Amino acid sequence: MRTASMADHWIENHKRDSWRRQAKASGYRARSAFKLKQIQERFQLVREGDCVLDVGCHPGGWAQVAVELVGDAGTVIGVDLQACAPVEGAVLLTGDITEAITQERILSELDGELLNVVISDISPHITGKWDMDQSVAMTLVADVFDFALPLLRKGGGLTTKLFQGIGVEELIQAVRPHFSSVRRFSPDASRNSSSEVYLVCKHHTPWKAPKTSVRTRYEESLNKILGGDEIEDDPEPVASTFQVRRRKKPIGEFEEH
Ligand SMILES: C[S@@+](CC[C@H](N)C(=O)[O-])C[C@H]1O[C@@H](n2cnc3c(N)ncnc32)[C@H](O)[C@@H]1O
Repeated sequence: MRTASMADHWIENHKRDSWRRQAKASGYRARSAFKLKQIQERFQLVREGDCVLDVGCHPGGWAQVAVELVGDAGTVIGVDLQACAPVEGAVLLTGDITEAITQERILSELDGELLNVVISDISPHITGKWDMDQSVAMTLVADVFDFALPLLRKGGGLTTKLFQGIGVEELIQAVRPHFSSVRRFSPDASRNSSSEVYLVCKHHTPWKAPKTSVRTRYEESLNKILGGDEIEDDPEPVASTFQVRRRKKPIGEFEEH
């Protein structure tokens, strides 16, 4: 595989600055707004009047784009660990998407309505240890699927950021039965297209959903490739052939009673 040269880095930085300038000029809060715009251009995920959940919405770039796409008749609910400045036309909640209290607040905002689309740009806090960050991020993505799928309409769509590395194929396999189309897409606006990729899932097929959660199936297939299944929970005791040799008592030693 070719390693990134100085020229590649220069091009990446130049592209990043160019998207940042465009974001500023167009009034978007984040460069990432263009990633959603490019996903939309390619896959037409969101339609006017849709009900959209934006997971990991801070600082609000995707929420701004989503509000434009759904129009006045639509609904946009965003959620993030960090409080987000208001976006007109969207309801933005602060909380952890994996926690029951946040999930209940989303349900109460929905008030029985189902989602047409879930857009998730979620990325956990980066520690710098790539393997660990990537594995935490992928488990978080599996949790987003498990929360969002029961709320998604038949025929609905979901896009989420993935982090290239171990487990990507396994997660895609775990998600496949839930949609009739699951595609990977790297928007031009992605800073580092080699590690950031979006999964775009269309046409939710709830009647095909397996009984076990996405996370369980994802972790089971990950264990298979990583060999984790070889560890038994409660191994049967096995007779040992090891023998303790009795030492002869040295002369002069007394037995205690
Ligand atoms: C790349 S940013 C999202 C940018 C956003 N799409 C935009 O255009 O402005 C990723 C966000 O995911 C959020 N996040 C990470 N873990 C989360 C969790 N468990 N629950 C909710 N949000 C989370 C982070 O706080 C961060 O703001």
